[in-house]
Amino acid sequence: MKVLVVGSGGREHALAWKIAQSPLLTRLVVAPGNPGMAGLAQRVDLKVTDTDGLVRLAKDMDADLVVVGPEAALEVGLADALAEVGIACFGPTKAAAQLETSKGFTKAFAMRHKVPTADYGEFSDAADAKAALNRFSPPYVIKADGIAAGKGVVIATDRTQAEAAIDDMLGGRFGQAGARLVIEAFMDGEEASVFALSDGETSLMFGAAQDHKRVGDGDTGPNTGGMGAYAPAPVMTSERLEIVRTAMIEATVAGMATEGAPYRGVLFAGVMSTAEGPKLVEYNARFGDPECQVLMLRLKSDLLPYLHACATGNLAAQGPLLWRDEAVICVVMAAQGYPDAPLTGSIIVGADGDFGPDVFVFHAGTTLDADGNLRANGGRVLNICARATTVAGARQLAYQAIDRIVWPQGFCRSDIAWRAMDRPA
Ligand code: GLY
Repeated sequence: MKVLVVGSGGREHALAWKIAQSPLLTRLVVAPGNPGMAGLAQRVDLKVTDTDGLVRLAKDMDADLVVVGPEAALEVGLADALAEVGIACFGPTKAAAQLETSKGFTKAFAMRHKVPTADYGEFSDAADAKAALNRFSPPYVIKADGIAAGKGVVIATDRTQAEAAIDDMLGGRFGQAGARLVIEAFMDGEEASVFALSDGETSLMFGAAQDHKRVGDGDTGPNTGGMGAYAPAPVMTSERLEIVRTAMIEATVAGMATEGAPYRGVLFAGVMSTAEGPKLVEYNARFGDPECQVLMLRLKSDLLPYLHACATGNLAAQGPLLWRDEAVICVVMAAQGYPDAPLTGSIIVGADGDFGPDVFVFHAGTTLDADGNLRANGGRVLNICARATTVAGARQLAYQAIDRIVWPQGFCRSDIAWRAMDRPA
C-alpha cells in the first residue's frame, strides 16, 4: 500500500513510525514531514494547506491512502478534494470536520442528538453575549467559535473578565474564528482525551489518554497545544468509557450520517468526568498531539488496515484492536518563550542518542541546518516518550533521556503524568 501522511509534527512522526511497521506498506511519503522522519519516509516539502499540491502529489505517487494529521488541512477541504479524484482519505470532509472547526456547530449538534454536554449559548453580538452571562454562574467559559491556535478559550473568574473576553473575541482578536462565540456552563471534573475511529457508519473505540494543557508545572500558566501526555488514562474507567462510546461516539457518528456529513477518520472527544457523569467538552477531527504519540506506542495491532478501512467504509470487517499492557508517557520539550513567542533556531545536541529500547524520540518542530545541526523550528520541538510496566517507570525513563539532551534554550514540564502516579495503570 502506498501511503501519504500529511503534517510535520510529533503526531505525524508517531503515525509515520507506526505505519512504517506495517507489512502492507510499500511506500511512505510525508508532506512536509520533519527531520526525525527521514529514515522512515520520503519527505516532500508542501504546506498542509496546499490542497492542490497535496492532491497532485497523491495522484503522482498513486497513493492508496492519504492520512491527514492536522485540522488545518481538513478545514480547507483536503478530504473533499481527494474524494473528487477518487483517493481514499483518513480524515473527515470539511463539513464533517465542523465538529472541530465550529464550537457552535458542535454544541447545537450535541443538543440535537442528546450528547451529554454543558448548557450553552451562541452569540455574534457583544451586548447579547454580556446580557446572557446572567444565565450562567462564574467561572464563565467563553470560547471563540472557530480554530484559534489553542488560545480561543477563556475561563473568566468574574463578570468583568468575562465581559473583557467577549469584547476581545468579538472585537476581532481571532479574526473570523472569533466572529461568533459560545458561552458554556463551567464543568467541574477531570478531563481526558478519548479517541474513536469511524468509517462514517461504524465506530471503534481507540483508547484514551490525558494531556497537560498548561505550560507550567502544577498545571499553571497559559494554555498550550499540550506539554505532555500519558496512557492509559486511569480517570477513564470502563464504566465512563462505555458512556462515552454510546452517548457520545455512536450518537455522533449516527447523527453526522443522518445529517448528510458522514464522519470518516478519528474522532477525538475531550471528556470531562463530572459528578453527573462524563460530558463532552469539545470534539476534534484528528488525533491529539501529543496524545497520538502515546497511543501509537501502546498499539500492538497493525494500524494501517484500520486507517484504510475508515477511509473506505470497511471498519466493521476489522478485528478488535490489540494494545500493549505497558504505560506510556510523552514529555514535550519546547523552545523558551513557548507558547507566546518561542525562540527558534537554537541548536539541540543529543536528541538522536541511544536511550534504550523503551525510549522513543519523536520530532515536532525541528529542522536540520546545512552543517547537519538539529535546530529548534517551532514552539513544541521534541517529544520524549517512554514505555514501562508502570507510569512511574515510564516517567523515569523519559526524564533520564531528557537529562542527556543538551539544549539550554529548551524546557519541559517536570511533572508529566502527576495525576496517574498514585493510580494503578
Ligand atoms: N493535545 C490536545 C490537542 O491535540 O488538541
